[in-house]
Amino acid sequence: MTSALDLNLLAPAHQTVRRPLHTETTASQALYLPIAPPTLGTRGAVIGRELYSGKAFIYCPFSTFGDGLPGGNVIVMGDTGRGKSSLTKTYTARQIRLGRQVVVLDTKEQKEREEGEWAALGRSLTGKAPVKFTPGGGRDASCINPMDPAIAGKRQIELVRTIVELGLGKPLDEFAGSALRLAIRRARLRSAETGRTPVLADVAAALRDPEETDAAAKRRSLDELLNDGLEVSYVLDRLCGSGDDSTGDLTGMLDGPTSIGVDLDADMIVFDLTKVPSGGVAMTILVAVISVFLEEVWLQPVCECGTGPGEHERTTVDARSGAWELGANPVTGCRRYTQRKRIMVCEEAWHVLGTPQLAALLERFLKFARGLGLSCVFIVHHLSDVDDSPETQAALKMADTVVIYSMKKAEAEDTVARLGLPSWTVEHIMRLRRGIALWKVGEVIYPAVQHLLTEAEQHLCFSSGAMTDLTSSSPELE
Ligand SMILES: Nc1ncnc2c1ncn2[C@@H]1O[C@H](COP(=O)(O)OP(=O)(O)OP(=O)(O)O)[C@@H](O)[C@H]1O
Ligand SMILES: [Mg+2]
Repeated sequence: MTSALDLNLLAPAHQTVRRPLHTETTASQALYLPIAPPTLGTRGAVIGRELYSGKAFIYCPFSTFGDGLPGGNVIVMGDTGRGKSSLTKTYTARQIRLGRQVVVLDTKEQKEREEGEWAALGRSLTGKAPVKFTPGGGRDASCINPMDPAIAGKRQIELVRTIVELGLGKPLDEFAGSALRLAIRRARLRSAETGRTPVLADVAAALRDPEETDAAAKRRSLDELLNDGLEVSYVLDRLCGSGDDSTGDLTGMLDGPTSIGVDLDADMIVFDLTKVPSGGVAMTILVAVISVFLEEVWLQPVCECGTGPGEHERTTVDARSGAWELGANPVTGCRRYTQRKRIMVCEEAWHVLGTPQLAALLERFLKFARGLGLSCVFIVHHLSDVDDSPETQAALKMADTVVIYSMKKAEAEDTVARLGLPSWTVEHIMRLRRGIALWKVGEVIYPAVQHLLTEAEQHLCFSSGAMTDLTSSSPELE
């Protein structure tokens, strides 16, 4: 046995170095309980349990909103196969049971099933197939028209400009921007004369064939106006194809009238983008168009009883100021207008967050959407996947809930630094097991939330088919 004298207890190291405290799991749980953050209430979707405190973990951005949570947007991140999609799938399915509507931008194909990861869940909840986009079009393929009259005039001009800028890879100058605005108006007028819905090809045609009156209004000659818009018309041709050329990046997806047979009242709408090349310009443009289309068409105010605000009685709450609120709808028996809440899920969201133009579009979308009860869930691998542009950083700041699954050291360090988390979380994040994540809700950290899958949900979340042997085909927690 080592003698106490041999240890030289008076050596400086022994005076200053504190021996590590050894605790068992049960002991640390007992210690943690009194300092554990409060639960997020009992209303919302059950996620699972907070491992250190043992408390049930229930999350709902709509119930917690305002109570320490300034906004409803969520970022889920972590290495591949850790459980990001599984969490989001069961969370949204559980939210649907609370009356929410969900839209998903599904970008990941399950090769063995030849469909997107979310198709099975969407079908099991609504009985409907996903809205599928396929380059070149084809049977069952959907098309959204950026020139659809359902999109309000000003939004449409911004949208077509974003499409052109994404195709061009740089912002338009003032002259080209002005020529594009004029061409969009001209395309609308010309197609109205023939009783058609305008499409992007009509804008390209109007750019190549400007009108004298438009040029005169801008103090340009006809040739100058033609020159201003010629490059833009080439970009639109390249994206949509022209004449017999059907090789455009957006052909069959954005170049014709809107054809999506989508039921906007469905509990879950899945946009299947799995056939669109990942990371390409078509994906980015499609996401931009879908988000604007959703804003204009899907995201309209509607009460949980299914009727619009106009169908509810106005109840005066303060006679002096005349303040009023939306009250009952005698037809449906609804007692008070309650905005139906929506959730939009964006898988592989670096397409969105990593593109400054899209991030800027999204930032505005999010600000606007908050007033209409929308919560967006973005799934990314790491924050280093998304770029550092001010637009992206602004969009990132709009996520008030961050869910972090296990990451490797470099990514964990980067994430902790970017989000301003305490330094102990780096090692903690690296050690998280599959299905367990650190949650930051507003400013409160829940270090280890285990997401629990019910038996009925397991097959809808199983994404490891390609890596699983016949003998071990049942999805289990590691
Ligand atoms: N909480 C959990 N309990 C049990 N199994 C889980 C849990 N979370 C995930 N799994 C299983 O782990 C596998 C991977 O999960 P998932 O597809 O959600 O990972 P991911 O993080 O989205 O991966 P990727 O980044 O590749 O998309 C799935 O087969 C799923 O069934
Ligand atoms: Mg996934």
